[in-house]
Amino acid sequence: MASGELSCKGLTKVYSASNGRKALDSVDVRIPSRGIFSLIGMNGAGKTTLVRILATQLEPTSGAASIDGIDVVSQAARLRERIATVPQEARTVPWMTPKQTVLSYLMWRGTSYADASAKASEVLGRVGLGQQENVLTRRLSGGMKRKTLVATVLASEADIVFLDEPTTGLDPISRKELWAYLGTLAKDRFVILTTHYLEEAEELASCIGIMHMGRLVGLGSLDDLRASVKQQYSIRISAGSAVPEVKEGAVTRSRSGEAQILTTEAEAYGLSRLLLDAGAKFSMSKISLDDIFFHLVNRGDDEVSRR
Ligand SMILES: Nc1ncnc2c1ncn2[C@@H]1O[C@H](COP(=O)(O)OP(=O)(O)O)[C@@H](O)[C@H]1O
Ligand SMILES: [Mg+2]
Repeated sequence: MASGELSCKGLTKVYSASNGRKALDSVDVRIPSRGIFSLIGMNGAGKTTLVRILATQLEPTSGAASIDGIDVVSQAARLRERIATVPQEARTVPWMTPKQTVLSYLMWRGTSYADASAKASEVLGRVGLGQQENVLTRRLSGGMKRKTLVATVLASEADIVFLDEPTTGLDPISRKELWAYLGTLAKDRFVILTTHYLEEAEELASCIGIMHMGRLVGLGSLDDLRASVKQQYSIRISAGSAVPEVKEGAVTRSRSGEAQILTTEAEAYGLSRLLLDAGAKFSMSKISLDDIFFHLVNRGDDEVSRR
């Protein structure tokens, strides 16, 4: 393995049909190519565009990107040997079984029938589909179909895996089950995972990229992202309790009347004493990825509107 890094420099994409609008706008990334790199952002943020460029399926308009020193444009064929993808629109074929799905994928990648057959059964067993490997996928639940797709990349020899929203639309239990397999998948591979479930990135990712309107507005581990936000503490005050005056920070109120204060560690300490003395009902925690996301995305909007 070469330099062990995912690198993007000024990566920009303007689709021909988009009147010059940048789907990806000067994205810079330099992170180790291991573990799970999770891209989060709202619909249209540019996640799929970035994934497709890195997976050598789409060429950037300008800028450059490489994984382990292999350029995604000039050395695409070489990189492709190491890549497997489950695209956002991927579906299982209804009249194929999980076994046939994984087997045909492996054979398409060049594995012999005997090896592919053995590998398919082994991996389906590992993702908990051993009992269903010969059942038509149209008879399987959404979670099982998604596991079948994840099993294809797990069975391949590819060590760079792209999963574009693999858990969107799954029920919470199937989603949690799939998380466990994604953790396994990432043990000896580099997984690039897009999601709009922030808790998924929080749970799985070693590195998180926050995208908004084509730009990367945050990059790093959850702790790095926390550290990039000045107000690292969140205080939630139940409806009905008075909210103390906040010198440094922001106060928001939910529709139910609950107030949330984002503030610095020093001020959080003082505020919690005031709240305790007043007998208020409240809780205090470090900010979550949700809080960071809304903070960075709102700041992004300000910057965009000022330009
Ligand atoms: N093939 C395409 N042609 C023109 N515009 C596109 C195409 N694919 C995506 N876009 C636009 O590029 C932007 C980013 O889209 P996308 O990368 O799919 O975002 P995400 O995956 O975060 O939802 C959106 O404004 C989208 O409408
Ligand atoms: Mg997408």
